[in-house]
Amino acid sequence: MKPLPQATPDRGARSPRRAITALLGSCMLVAGQGIATLCMSVSQAYAQTPIVIQFSHVVTADTVKGRAALKFKELAEQRTNGRVRVEVYPNSQLYKDREELDALSLGAVQMLAPALSKLAGVGGSDFEAFDLPFLFPDHAAYRRVVDGAIGVELLLRLEPKGIKGLAYWDNGFKVFTANRPLLAVRDFRGLRIRVQASRTLLKQMQQLGAEPSISPLINVFEALRTGKLDGEENTPINVVSQRLHEVQSHLTVSNHGYLAYAVIVNKAFWDKLPADIRNTLEGALRDVTAFENSIAEAENTRALERIKSSGKLSIYTPSAQELAQWRTALDPVSLAAQSGIRPELVKAIQVATRVPP
Ligand code: SIN
Repeated sequence: MKPLPQATPDRGARSPRRAITALLGSCMLVAGQGIATLCMSVSQAYAQTPIVIQFSHVVTADTVKGRAALKFKELAEQRTNGRVRVEVYPNSQLYKDREELDALSLGAVQMLAPALSKLAGVGGSDFEAFDLPFLFPDHAAYRRVVDGAIGVELLLRLEPKGIKGLAYWDNGFKVFTANRPLLAVRDFRGLRIRVQASRTLLKQMQQLGAEPSISPLINVFEALRTGKLDGEENTPINVVSQRLHEVQSHLTVSNHGYLAYAVIVNKAFWDKLPADIRNTLEGALRDVTAFENSIAEAENTRALERIKSSGKLSIYTPSAQELAQWRTALDPVSLAAQSGIRPELVKAIQVATRVPP
C-alpha cells in the first residue's frame, strides 16, 4: 500500500504546500512594513487558500461514476466561486479498492464513491444485501430500496466509523465474462472468478462451483490476460472501460446482480466545513446524483453494444428457463443466511422491490 498523504485536520483539506507558498509570498512582499500589515496579509492569503477535496475512485474517467465525479468538481468549484477545489483521481491512481477506504477513514482523502459491496468492511454485513443475486428485478426496484428508509438507515451505519454517506449512484446489472462459454450453472465448475471483497460474492461463486478470488479492479485485466484468472463479473461499463472484453472469449448477459455506489466523505472533514460551503456542496451533489442516475442504465446498454460490435468475444443471453435454473442455484435468501445478512432486511428489500399497486 502506498504511504498515505498527510491530512490537515483542523481546516479541512487545504493544500498545505500551496498555503505555505502563498504565506511566504505575502511575507516577502510586506517585509519592511509593519508587523500588523504582515499579519493581515498572512491571514488574507490563508483565507483565500481554497479548501481542497481529494476525490479518489477506481474506474476510468469516462465511466458514469468518472463523469459524475468530474461534474461534481465542476459544479462545486463554480458554485463556491473557487473557495473549494476538487481534485479527482480516477482509475486507482491514488488508491486501490480497500486502500481508499482506509485513506478516507484516516482523512488522507476526503471523498469516495465505492461500490456498496466494499462497504461491508466499514458498515457491516447488511451492505452485502446489495450483492445478493436476483434480488432486484430491475433498476427501478433497486432505486426504490436506496431512495427509501433502507437506504437512509444503511448510510447512517457508516457514521461510527467516521464516514458520512451522502448519496447513492447507480451503475447497473452485472454480466459474467470468462475464457470459456458460461451457458449453464455447471459451466462454472473449477473456474477462477474474480469478485469484489464481499463474503456474499464469494459464496455466490462457491455456490456455482467456481473458485472465487478477491482482487482490486485495476489488477483484473492483467490477471485475465496472463491466465491467473478465468473470468469475472461486472457491468458492461466496467468491462469495456477496463478492456476486459479484450482478454476474455465469452460473455453471458446474466444480469444476476446489481452494482451501485455510495458517495461518502470523511465525516470530521465534512462537519467542519463552513455551513454555507457544506450546503452548496450538498446542492451540487444532489444535481450530480440526478445526472449520474439518469444516464447509468443507457450507458450500460451502450457499453454492451460496444462490446458486441468489437467482435472480440461471443455473447450469450440465457433464456428465461435457463435463468430460472440460475435463480434456484443462487437463492438469495439462503445466501443471505450464509453471509450473516439479517433475514428481516432481505424481507424488507423484497417488499420494497415489489411493484407498487
Ligand atoms: C467500481 O465500479 O467502482 C468497482 C467495481 C469492481 O471492483 O468491480
